[in-house]
Amino acid sequence: MFRTDLFAGKRFLISGGGTGLGRIMMERFVELGADCVICGRRGSVLEETARDVMARHPGRRVDTFAVDIRVATAVEEMIDQIWAGGPLDGLVNNAAGNFISQTKDLSPRAFDAIANIVLHGTFYMTNACGKRWIAEQRKASVISILTTWVWTGSPFVVPSAMSKAGVAVMTQSLAVEWGRHGIRLNAIAPGPFPTEGAWARLNPGGDNDDRYKTRNPMGRVGRPNELANMAAFLMSDEVAYINGEIIAIDGGMGIMGNGTFSNMMAYSEDDWRRIREQIQSTNAADKAKRS
Ligand code: HXC
Repeated sequence: MFRTDLFAGKRFLISGGGTGLGRIMMERFVELGADCVICGRRGSVLEETARDVMARHPGRRVDTFAVDIRVATAVEEMIDQIWAGGPLDGLVNNAAGNFISQTKDLSPRAFDAIANIVLHGTFYMTNACGKRWIAEQRKASVISILTTWVWTGSPFVVPSAMSKAGVAVMTQSLAVEWGRHGIRLNAIAPGPFPTEGAWARLNPGGDNDDRYKTRNPMGRVGRPNELANMAAFLMSDEVAYINGEIIAIDGGMGIMGNGTFSNMMAYSEDDWRRIREQIQSTNAADKAKRS
C-alpha cells in the first residue's frame, strides 16, 4: 500500500509504543523507512520491543525512554534528551489509560488516574514537541489516538470519554494555531481493536466479544494493520493538506447506533419477507378503501 522509502530520513516518537497498537504503528513506520523513539512506563518492555523490531529491520533505529507522561517535568526532560540525538518529525499520542466502571463508583483519584494520562499527558507531550518545532521552523505531524466516544460520549468510561474529547479539541485548536508553522495535527478514532491492555480493562472475562458481530456493520473487530495503515497515511507528507481532522476507523459502528432501524441488521430473510408482506397488505387495504 505504501512506498518502502515513504519515511526515509524521518524520526517519529510514539507514546505507549512498546505494546499493543502503539507498537504496531511504530513497526509500520519502521517498515516504511523511519527511525522511531518509543516511550512508556516499563523500560524493559520497551527495550525488548526495540531489540525485536531492529533485528527484523536491519539499518533502522528504535530508541526507548521510560517515562510516565503524567509528570510534566519528566516529559520535558525526555524530549530534551530525544532532541539531543536529533529532532523529531512526528509524534503519535497513543498512550492511554482506561477501565470500565459505573461512574458513581469512581473516586476522584480514579478520575485523575485516567485524565492525567490521556488529557494532561497528551498535552505535555504535544506542547513539548510543538514548541521545539516552532523554534526550529520545522514541519511536523501529530496524530492522537482517540475513540468514537468523542462524538457520542459513552457510559461507563466517562473519564476516558471526557479526556479524549479534550484531546479532540486540542487537535482542532492547534491545527489552526500551529498550521502556519507547518505543523499538522490529526486524530484517529478507532472502534474496537482488541489488544491485551485495552481488552483486560474494557472487556474483562472476554464475555462481550460477540457483540461486535451483531453491533458492527462489518461484523468484526478491527485488524491492527488497518489502524497502522491509517496512521502511516496521516503521518505522510503526501497528505500534508489534511489538518485538524478526526477520522473514525470502526467499520461504521459509531454511526450504526444512531440509525432508527439499526436493530434490523439482525433480521433474517424470513423476517424481511414477513415485513414486505405486512406492508403490501396494508397498502392493498388502503387502496381498497380509496376505490
Ligand atoms: C473503579 C478503579 C478501578 C476500577 C482503578 N481504580 N481501577 N476504580 N473501578 N476498575 C481506582 C483505584 O481504586 C484508585 O483510586 C485510582 O483508580 C488509581 O488506581 P491505581 O491503580 O493506583 O492507578 P495507576 O497505577 O496510576 O494506574 C492507572 C490505570 C491503569 C489507568 C488505573 O489501568 C493503567 O495504568 N492503565 C494503562 C493501560 C490502559 O489502561 N490501557 C487501556 C487503554 S484503552 P483510589 O481512590 O482507590 O485510590 C483506551 C480506549 C480503548 O484508552 C477504546 C476501545 C474501544
